[in-house]
Amino acid sequence: MCGIVAYIGNKNCRDILINGLKRLEYRGYDSAGIGILAPKTAPKSSDPGYEIKVIKEAGKIKDLEKLLSDMDFDGTVGIGHTRWATHGVPNRANAHPHFDCHGEIAVVHNGIIENYAEIKEELVKKGHKFISDTDTEVLPHLIEEYLKSEADGKLLIAMQRLLKKIRGSGAIVALSLKHPDEIVAGRIASPLIVGVSKEGNFFASDMPAVLEHTHHFVIINDYETVRITRDDIQIYDLEGIIIQRDPFRVNWTLESAEKSGYEDFMLKEMFEQPYGIRETMRGRITDGVFHFEEINLSEEQIRNLKKIQIIACGTSYHAALTGKLIIEKWAGIPVEVDISSEYRYRDPIVDRDCLFIAITQSGETIDTLAAIREARKKGAKVMAVTNVVGSTIARESDSVIYTHAGPEIGVCATKTFTAQVIVMYMIGLFLARIKGTVDETVYEKIIEELEIIPNKVQQILNNAGHIKKIADETYRHTCFLFLGRIYGFPMSLEGALKLKEISYIHAEGYAAGEMKHGPIALTDTRTIVVGVIPQDFVYEKMLSNLQEVKARNAKIFALITEGDKNTAKYADYVFEIPKTREELYGILAVVPLQLYAYYIAKNLSRNVDQPRNLAKSVTVE
Ligand code: G6P
Repeated sequence: MCGIVAYIGNKNCRDILINGLKRLEYRGYDSAGIGILAPKTAPKSSDPGYEIKVIKEAGKIKDLEKLLSDMDFDGTVGIGHTRWATHGVPNRANAHPHFDCHGEIAVVHNGIIENYAEIKEELVKKGHKFISDTDTEVLPHLIEEYLKSEADGKLLIAMQRLLKKIRGSGAIVALSLKHPDEIVAGRIASPLIVGVSKEGNFFASDMPAVLEHTHHFVIINDYETVRITRDDIQIYDLEGIIIQRDPFRVNWTLESAEKSGYEDFMLKEMFEQPYGIRETMRGRITDGVFHFEEINLSEEQIRNLKKIQIIACGTSYHAALTGKLIIEKWAGIPVEVDISSEYRYRDPIVDRDCLFIAITQSGETIDTLAAIREARKKGAKVMAVTNVVGSTIARESDSVIYTHAGPEIGVCATKTFTAQVIVMYMIGLFLARIKGTVDETVYEKIIEELEIIPNKVQQILNNAGHIKKIADETYRHTCFLFLGRIYGFPMSLEGALKLKEISYIHAEGYAAGEMKHGPIALTDTRTIVVGVIPQDFVYEKMLSNLQEVKARNAKIFALITEGDKNTAKYADYVFEIPKTREELYGILAVVPLQLYAYYIAKNLSRNVDQPRNLAKSVTVE
């Protein structure tokens, strides 16, 4: 949600900024802009000798590129931004950068300034004029005020004052005509990193933005301010005390953040799932036993666990629901699952004998972050499950289990989801072994099965053409109902979420047993019912539910266990899923559902990587 790239160095920054913004497109945005510090051709003696050139446009970065194509827009210091509208519609005036009264200070910002209205009022009284509807515009004007007074002309001090003044969230980056050898930034709650290279330094919202220039990064924490120059970075707290922090190296390759011949990132990422699952398990099973050093609890503490609390948003919430089923079944520990945005405001009872797990692919979701802060304040020990090393939630948790799915660029979570689900299976089994709640031979059999799950996912992917055919025949339907029971239920929710996210078709995920309490009223010839119906202990109940909707003229697409001839008799379309243990069926069922959503969306010519209105990491409430 909003993306920032900034550069100061010895290279021309125009392409660095544009390419960096393109790599942040996955975060979701609706307008973009860049500003550079350009030497004036004939400066007057009183001039700083520079001007800030700016170009902004509603729409996509390619629209910005068109405008840039025949412009002289060169310089070695610049800032860029993709905006996801919160205050004010997506248009050129509201796009970033925003300026002070004299066009001398340019600011880009990711986040929300909650007290912007009162700040604006104060500034208007002092004679400041505003030209946009954004909250961000108060920031360059505030910096202008501070530079005149308390900050004594120093840009970094102005940034420190500003962070003390604002409420809300923000990664804020500022460029000033009168400070041509530095860019400064500050952070409250929105992600901000510094990229370090021999040819200059960078600010960015996320590492892929500058991965082609450097693999060395420094993470910026809340209430820190930073000055980058061509060959140095300095981090300070709000009182101006310097903070020492060395860069660390990331191993992600540029290729892993590119499409590698696939039509879309989403398609590529779905096909990377066998790898992501395998990588996430790698090194955690030795001699047939799970090792989970990240779970920072002694065996005795595990045996005494009274409860596990899991929180998450979006797709991660569906991994959490799977976690509940598995942990309760195998380890016999009660698990409560909450949506983060509900948890943080519902005044939860936090039990110190409880293990608290936050699941988040990005590690930046604002509601999940706020929820873990709330829980930790009340004494909980938080364990994060995330895909992004060094993300805010990873750093603010007591322990972290990393999924190793590799960078996920498509807005829809696919490979990070199956990696989360495999972590849920591993946690369940790990706890069960210590508690002695799963028989040793069953434990071994589950591990054997987990080890071949990636092959089974591959088998499903090899059959993607069959799913495409079903999508080609059904994409014109206007109502989709996804039904499942027990292990199939979270996947029904996920299948419906995927479909609505990228096709914009109305879809509902439901526990099949709830169907008669409402959704059955929707079923007629326009409806496709997608039934997740493995041959498990609720198979017959699911079959009855599918027959009931069939009797009401809905078309049925059933995900069946291979060889299930019986369901095939009732369904209009079937896709066979390899046999597995019933508890593990979910991770296999979700893959055809992802593919189905993808091919329907492609039939409708949707942008699957950047669906409208959505963002990869939701950093505002
Ligand atoms: C956004 C993304 C979803 C994701 C959700 C939660 O809505 O588009 O794909 O599931 O945020 O994100 P998290 O990073 O916390 O898993």
